[in-house]
Amino acid sequence: MRIGILNCGGDCPGLNAVIHGVVGAAASKGWETIGFRDGFEGLLPPGDFTFLTPKDTEGILKQGGTILGTTNKGNFAAKVGEGDVARVPQEIIDRAKKTLDQLEIGALLVVGGDGSLTTAHQLFEQGWPIIGVPKTIDNDLKATSMTFGFDSAVSTVVDGLDRLHTTAQSHKRVMVLEVMGRHAGWIALWGGIAGAANVILLPEIPFTYENVANHLKMREAQGYSSSLVVVAEGAKDPDGNLATIDENLGGEVRLGGIGERVAHRIAELTGKETRCTTLGHIQRGGAPTPLDRILGVRFGVMAVQLASEGDFGKMVSYHSYHVGSVPIKEAVEELRLVDPDTEVVAAARAVGVSFGD
Ligand code: F6P
Repeated sequence: MRIGILNCGGDCPGLNAVIHGVVGAAASKGWETIGFRDGFEGLLPPGDFTFLTPKDTEGILKQGGTILGTTNKGNFAAKVGEGDVARVPQEIIDRAKKTLDQLEIGALLVVGGDGSLTTAHQLFEQGWPIIGVPKTIDNDLKATSMTFGFDSAVSTVVDGLDRLHTTAQSHKRVMVLEVMGRHAGWIALWGGIAGAANVILLPEIPFTYENVANHLKMREAQGYSSSLVVVAEGAKDPDGNLATIDENLGGEVRLGGIGERVAHRIAELTGKETRCTTLGHIQRGGAPTPLDRILGVRFGVMAVQLASEGDFGKMVSYHSYHVGSVPIKEAVEELRLVDPDTEVVAAARAVGVSFGD
């Protein structure tokens, strides 16, 4: 048996842990692993790939990024905007299939987020032996309660907030931190709670600038001279507008800029000196946390297990501390968003966090 693995979409900490898990588990079954470079693009003839043995993955567990490279653009990009789904042209699929057949790949493990797994599902429907592995710092995939990469991104946010806290106190300022997550507020919510933010603005909870300003003024009246505000990049302005970066590269719309808007309005409404920091891709880079390493390895091993059972069209999933599997279709039907009525949001409110609503 020979299996293939590829990563696609944005990179995230823990991708190399999955590769380590897959290659190790495959080798222990006497199987060969081929890694395709730069996502599905590596399948296009003549094929851009490398054979991977456990020796090749020695030491990669702790590395950020991916040794195989990845892309969220190109011939196989499946999502183009909020809710839009573009299908991959048949001609591209047919060309890629030739490489798969020539190399006699018995299972193709696709490590990706909702866009890449949507493509993976399209290929499965055409009879490809696909197994999905959920990957995204955004943690927005349905049918798994956690994706690897999320914990690392959250820990970067918390580190950022800890640093902002000390400078905020010195200068008696309001510090705004814009974080990633696309249309889901998970990174902002978890990072905000763990980093002791005073205001958290999410795509899922509409806010007004007046509410945010009133909360900050109330804190000041209570004797707190500084405050921390976390804004998810996908949080919409009270007028319903997303802040986007105007750049058309044929992929998904790029989010960014809401943090500056929020900081500007806070300064206007409170008279407090306010600064904005955008964490950006720092959240995606660097070494994975121990949790993401463990998840990555377990996801990789489970993917090989599914391949050995011929259980194609499935995605590895994580629920209640157990790694199992679900149909890929279930995972890509809709995004997993923060439920405003959930216990985590209530816990944040209980310790004085305002969501600006
Ligand atoms: O989906 C992961 C993610 O990091 C989002 O949180 C962010 O909006 C986007 O990718 C950034 O993409 P790019 O790397 O293309 O700028």
